[in-house]
Amino acid sequence: MKLTYLRHSCFLLETQKAKILFDPFISPNELANEIRKNSFDDTLISKLSVDQIECDYVFLSHGHEDHVADAEVILKRTGAKLVSNFEIVSWYANKGVENNHPMNLGGIWTFDFGTIKYVNAIHSSAMPDGTYGGNPGGFVIQADDKTLYYAGDTALTFDMKLIAEDFNLDVALLPIGDNFTMGVKDAIKASDFIACDHVIGMHFDTFGYIKIDHEAAVKSFSEAGKNLMLMQIGETKEL
Ligand code: NI
Ligand code: MN
Repeated sequence: MKLTYLRHSCFLLETQKAKILFDPFISPNELANEIRKNSFDDTLISKLSVDQIECDYVFLSHGHEDHVADAEVILKRTGAKLVSNFEIVSWYANKGVENNHPMNLGGIWTFDFGTIKYVNAIHSSAMPDGTYGGNPGGFVIQADDKTLYYAGDTALTFDMKLIAEDFNLDVALLPIGDNFTMGVKDAIKASDFIACDHVIGMHFDTFGYIKIDHEAAVKSFSEAGKNLMLMQIGETKEL
């Protein structure tokens, strides 16, 4: 599988059978300047823009604006299937997003590309208009013989140990920006709890409250014997 970073907590995961877009927050994000504007050329970076990006699925971890801002536009243009908690899926269904799959915490479902478990996150979840957004969650994705954990917005929680009991993670996408989610110190503990030393950082730098020192963050992970990757916008990693 291939993973491309679109800043904040937005990633495009390409498995052999499907492209999955996580938490699209592009058009309001100044750090995503390269892809937030209308762009009609066919450069690689333009193909990641809100107007051009292609995906088969949109996964939403919770209802906050900085995770769902571009979801409706992208869902309607692409016809991608929305996967999220029941409340978020219902909110989008009322807006005419009919291709959807509601889940709730602890649930597992097998899709055409692989298997998903929607797992606990400790955070909050309201839709941009204030509607209740259900419980926030994360996703464990098994596809192409790899297992990836997308934590969403979350505090460190003992529940993460349950993930290590059931899955051998190859890589974990963890929030590290602090203030609204866990920071670097707790993300290192989380990496122990989930038994995965390969971490890709997310939810950092976008707002003043979550600006981090990249070098210090990478150093803290490496001193704990772990690998923290901070990806650039448009950067793709083969997992
Ligand atoms: Ni949030
Ligand atoms: Mn957030």
